[in-house]
Amino acid sequence: MDSTILDIGCGDGGLTSKIFKEIIPNCKTMIGCDISEDMIRFANEHYASERINFTTLNIEGELPDQLRERFHHVISFFALNWCHRQETAFQNIYDILRDQGSCFAIIAERVSLFDAYRNLAKVEKWKPWLIDVERYISPYHDSQDSRKEMEHLLGKVGFTVTKLEHKILVHDFENQENLKSALMSVVPFKIPDELYDDFFIHLSKEMQMFDTKKYNFKKSTYDSVFIVQALVLYVEKHL
Ligand SMILES: C[S@@+](CC[C@H](N)C(=O)[O-])C[C@H]1O[C@@H](n2cnc3c(N)ncnc32)[C@H](O)[C@@H]1O
Repeated sequence: MDSTILDIGCGDGGLTSKIFKEIIPNCKTMIGCDISEDMIRFANEHYASERINFTTLNIEGELPDQLRERFHHVISFFALNWCHRQETAFQNIYDILRDQGSCFAIIAERVSLFDAYRNLAKVEKWKPWLIDVERYISPYHDSQDSRKEMEHLLGKVGFTVTKLEHKILVHDFENQENLKSALMSVVPFKIPDELYDDFFIHLSKEMQMFDTKKYNFKKSTYDSVFIVQALVLYVEKHL
């Protein structure tokens, strides 16, 4: 109640708005932010209201002064894994929060999608489109002990860690069409329209191979299931 909340990497604003309406309708204001101007324009056009609005912000860039110590809580879902300057991102989150503030985040760490990017980037057919793949792979994908790395980082920034755990998130999309829409919405590469279907087939086959052979999961994209190994954290700022 009466708190101000920032959703980092809000994308199109759909999830921010749903959380606001269904989970925390009593909060004072909720602001969604994203590095993408297109996302923010869409979010403001579709989901803004008196107590919820959206603004552009690069969480691993320089923090505008007006955001310092402004929010009671920060939430972030599947966005911080896009940041390779992790320390800057978490320092900014710390600075954004008021004293006694908290941050709850889900960060993708190990995903067959990232393994598939690396493999497809070596294939002649996809090489021209899969540019700069490492930029889109979570900084924790190859980590031997991501939990320990994260714990160290959070401590260095000054956070008190209340919760930090690995979670295997399994989502069943029920059919290939649904899986395709969801998966292709997070693929950052500009695949030409005429190659789009073929790319999805190749990508999901690669993912299936990694899901079953590397990670030993019983289900995979073959069963229209998308699996993400994630870090879930809840941290607090105490001055
Ligand atoms: C997979 S989407 C998640 C959207 C939303 N949180 C959800 O769960 O539905 C990740 C979002 O993070 C944004 N993003 C990536 N890097 C960012 C950065 N440095 N600062 C802010 N947002 C960023 C992307 O533009 C994208 O909209």
